[in-house]
Order: sequence, then C-alpha cells, then structure tokens
Amino acid sequence: MHKCKNNCTFAAILGHNGMLTDDIFLELHRILPRFAEDQVFLITDENVARECLPLFESQTADFGQLWQNMLRRHTLVLPAGEAHKNLDTVRRIWDYLQSAGATRRSVVLLLGGGVVTDMAGFAAACYQRGIPFINIPTTLLSIVDASDGGKTGIDYGGLKNQIGLFRPALENIIWLPFLRTLPAEQFLSGWAEMIKHALIASPIEWNRLLAFDLEQYLAAPDEAQEDEFRALITRSMDIKRYVVEQDPEEQDMRRILNFGHTVGHAIESELIGRGQARPHGYCVVWGMVAELYLSHLCLGFPAEVVTQLSSYMKAHYGAVGFSCRDYERLLSLMRHDKKNTDSRISFTLLRHVGSPCAGSHASDEQIKEALDYLFSL
Ligand code: GLY
Repeated sequence: MHKCKNNCTFAAILGHNGMLTDDIFLELHRILPRFAEDQVFLITDENVARECLPLFESQTADFGQLWQNMLRRHTLVLPAGEAHKNLDTVRRIWDYLQSAGATRRSVVLLLGGGVVTDMAGFAAACYQRGIPFINIPTTLLSIVDASDGGKTGIDYGGLKNQIGLFRPALENIIWLPFLRTLPAEQFLSGWAEMIKHALIASPIEWNRLLAFDLEQYLAAPDEAQEDEFRALITRSMDIKRYVVEQDPEEQDMRRILNFGHTVGHAIESELIGRGQARPHGYCVVWGMVAELYLSHLCLGFPAEVVTQLSSYMKAHYGAVGFSCRDYERLLSLMRHDKKNTDSRISFTLLRHVGSPCAGSHASDEQIKEALDYLFSL
C-alpha cells in the first residue's frame, strides 16, 4: 500500500558550504558590476521597508550616495501580506518595471519574506520572458525554505501558489542580522521548516535541533548559541538544497519536502477561511505531529519520537484548537490538495527519522485517528 521508492541519504551533504554572508556589500559588489547602475531595481514590501531597508542601506553605504539615491528611485514598495500575493500585485510590478525602463539587462533585488520572493520572483521570471533576480530573504522561513529552490508564484482562485514557475534566483544572499527584526512568532514559523528538514534528514540533525535552547536564543543568545544557530541554519539549507538538486521540478524526491504539509495546508486554509490565520510554520508543526502519528500507524514509525515532537509542539507552538467536528472539512481540503496525483490523499510519511516516503496513502479512519491524536494534545 505504501510506495517508498524515494529513500535518500543525506550523508553526502555534510560539510557542504553554506551561503551565509557577513557582508551584503561584498556580495553585491561581487555580483552587480555586470549590470549598469541604472538597471538595478529593488522590490520589497511596506513592513520590510520599515524594518529592514534601513539596515540594508547601512550595509550598502559603501557604494556611495549616488548609487543609493539611484536605488531609492528604483525601489518598489508593495503592500505586505499573503492577501496581496495575487495577479493584481504582479501587474503592479510589471507596470512599474516597464515604466522604469527595466530590460533584460536589468537585475531585480528582492528584499523580503516568502511572499515578496515568490511573487516578485514570478513577476521577474515572466517580464520580457525573464530577467534575473537576486533574493535577499529577511525572514527565517524564507531563508530556509521559500527563497531557495526556484519556486516562484502567486495564489489564485482562493488556493495557495496555484500559478507559478520554477526559476532559480541568480543568487541568494543570506544575512542573519535581519532575523533580529522578527517577532518570536515569525522566528518560530521558520524554525518549523528546520524541524521538518531535520526529521527527513537524520537523527543527528533532529537531536541537535532538540538540544538547542530556543527560549534562551530568543531572549539573550550568547556567542556559543549564535555559532550553533549558524551551524543549524546552514545544515538546514544544505538539506533543502541537496533535495532540490536531485529533483528541481518536484517530479519525485522533492516531494519529501512536503512532509507535514498535507495536514498542515488543510489546517492553514481552514484557519484562513475562519479569519483566524496562523503563521505557516505553526500549521506545518501541527501537520507534522498528525503525519508522524500516521507514520506510526502506517509504517511503524517509533512512537517515542511522535511523543518527542508532540511535547516540543506543546512547549513552543501550543495546540491547534480543533475538534472532531472539523474532520470532514479538513479531509475535504486534503482531497483538493494539489500534491495529490490521483483521487487519493497523498502524504510524505516517515519510516523512521531520516527515512521519508513520499506518495504514501492512508485510510480515512487512519487520518481521523491521527487528527484525534493531534486535537487531544
Ligand atoms: N517548500 C517545499 C519545496 O520547496 O519544495
């Protein structure tokens, strides 16, 4: 019943170089000289413009006042939030690029979280059949997930990421001080994708993440913790990059990155529909708890690790707050998930930590039992 042909080993990636930088100026100085100064554009949103643009400008001050004035004239600030990740905003980006004289010799810097990099990446990938863009992610979620891997797109017809293209950024510049501008909830949202990467990769990664003192890191990190965080984030990005390199357009192995997302997306959509949206990563953690329980039922995944993740969820993310009255609605949302390849609901389940099986299926009774478990926590 459970196809499991995409097992993989992550041993090969240990020691892979990360792509964090201590100096945005040096990175841009390496990349930008191949573009004319008046062909550099920047797209961001109003929250990022307030919280991160001043930091970005202080980092790039060495380019000089003329360059900064030019860039200021070439900056488009979009409204913030998932509600604006749509065709209307893409049209605004195209109108802007066209009226500002962008051509295929231009480059667009995308400064922001996943909404900005997904949507403006899509707009750049279509404009004049594609102009290069550079992602400069400012949230943990976009660093470890959205900005890397070439997925660009917008929401459409009430569904997330329905229209889009695979088009990798020319470069991905990761500068961790932006994360200090994030509220704890947004940090935890990104941390959820790091939990996902660890669980699909290996017990070593999972135990290392569990051992990291999140509360202390969020309150007052010391130097040793900063070093450990850098190491964890680098390994997390490496795990994602390794998977994407094997299967850039999600024909097979990349589906393992959907672990937690079948149940997670259903919860996220239901909460959005009720006007009670929660950060994506929270929904993914709730989804991972249900899907690990399902992995236990279907593939014999060890019960003690299900308990470990459940306790971690309760300590850091809280409970989902649903009940058995929500089964049918969630099942219906899962049936309409674009990850399904036939009429059945498709999951990435785990045999054990580090052994993901994409394209797994379960009966409605098993799914309800897994939801029961999640709702009881
Ligand atoms: N966010 C999952 C992926 O990039 O495939």
